[in-house]
Amino acid sequence: MTAAAPFIIVAIDGGAGTGKSSSATLLSERFNLLHVDTGSFYRAATAEFLRLGVAAADLTSVRRALGSLQLGTRLDSRDAQMEIGGRVVPEAEIRSPAVNVNVSLFAALPEVRTALLDYQRRLADFARGHDFRGLVIGGRDIGSVIFPNADFRFFLHVDEAVAEQRRARQGQSDSIKERNRLDSSRKTAPLVCPTGAIYIDTTHLTLAEVVEKMAAPIAAKLSVP
Ligand code: DC
Repeated sequence: MTAAAPFIIVAIDGGAGTGKSSSATLLSERFNLLHVDTGSFYRAATAEFLRLGVAAADLTSVRRALGSLQLGTRLDSRDAQMEIGGRVVPEAEIRSPAVNVNVSLFAALPEVRTALLDYQRRLADFARGHDFRGLVIGGRDIGSVIFPNADFRFFLHVDEAVAEQRRARQGQSDSIKERNRLDSSRKTAPLVCPTGAIYIDTTHLTLAEVVEKMAAPIAAKLSVP
């Protein structure tokens, strides 16, 4: 009799435009993992704050808005999408220039991070409940704060000029440098490569090459090709 395959957690951190989401999507397909893009959660929350007219500098209003956020999860193929009040904020809204400019300001607030912390951790149970073999979850503080004991922790790096070209090819204008500066310098859960994480510089690698570097140790652990 063979032992049941272990449930695995794969954490992928890195700055804006490093390819976290694209590589996580491919890993989720290859190993039947639930894909979680936590950047989309901070973006959806930011879109909601902006819709409510709440500014990041106005902590009283931020706290009030957070108190009214009803968070849920919708499964879209292998993607866990966050619902706010039963609604998934559309892609066009969460990738809008206004969200690009404001998201790091809201993400720097400890109140906002605390409100999303347990929600993110509970997605491991959601994955188990939906018969996934594990979770591949991307963000900025996954390997350092959310799942420090993840089975695999990767940290992706890319030259910022190359990241901006990648965004432009996706038809988006994004303040990559400014977001990375804010995300790396904030006090709570800054963007760092956690000790022990596998660091991958993606600047001169194709997406397939990046995925291969991550897939090799995962396949070995799961004993699959
Ligand atoms: O992954 P992304 O570029 O879509 O993320 C948008 C912003 O959300 C990012 O600039 C900082 C914030 N973020 C965060 O603070 N912590 C995470 N785990 C994920 C994203």
